[in-house]
Amino acid sequence: MSRKIVVMDSGIGGASILREIMQLMPNQSYVYFADTLNSPYGEKDKKTLLNILINNINFIKEKNEIEVLVLACNTASSLCGNELRKVFNFPIICVEPAIKVAFEKNYKNIAILATPQTLKSNKTIKNFQKLKGLKIQKVPLKNLAKDIDSNINHTEKIFNEIKNDLKALKCECAVIGCTHYNFVKDEIKDVLQCEVVSCENAVAQQTKKVLTKYNLKKSDKGSLKIMLSKRNLKILHFLKSYLNFCHN
Ligand code: DGL
Repeated sequence: MSRKIVVMDSGIGGASILREIMQLMPNQSYVYFADTLNSPYGEKDKKTLLNILINNINFIKEKNEIEVLVLACNTASSLCGNELRKVFNFPIICVEPAIKVAFEKNYKNIAILATPQTLKSNKTIKNFQKLKGLKIQKVPLKNLAKDIDSNINHTEKIFNEIKNDLKALKCECAVIGCTHYNFVKDEIKDVLQCEVVSCENAVAQQTKKVLTKYNLKKSDKGSLKIMLSKRNLKILHFLKSYLNFCHN
């Protein structure tokens, strides 16, 4: 059984992270797991989500030896990242909203777009909220992740939803706090007319660092396996073309 870099999310969001990782390290063996059975995660409580994630990881482990796990979901990372690290003995990389990037660019009025649970539980957001002279607006987008998964090709519908959700928001910089929203960055930018920052590149760099530390051998040829917890042909086809495209 070859050792795998496993990237997981509730749906397509984490693929934006995996694509960046694959571009950085094409010759590795990857698994992408989309939890189509339990998505969306955005309003699930910690205990429920932790159980779901542990079950999913154990399921993936039955068929794959996990070298490193990238929890490419802000909700799962914020709520359960630390607990999962206590349960499993391989490295687990979590994602974070890129507030630090916005802060370092000297923005004073920053909006974080994320699921309700990420905004409630994320520690980095809490820490930045304590800083004087910095306005952090938490913007929960209840349905956007789910709607992105179920309307992969209907960009008009999603654009209208984003317009509707964000039309009253005024900020200098928007931070993507849900990996699904990486797929609608241009639309968000269009509505808010401000810089939009996200974490894909930082997570890819971090994954490389961890692998270097653990001396992961590269395989001759990269490989990718896509796993879905519930059959969903639209999502499967989307993931295949989105991820295979950059995998040659
Ligand atoms: N990609 C997940 C995140 O980053 C989506 C959340 C959901 O499934 O609601 O939070």
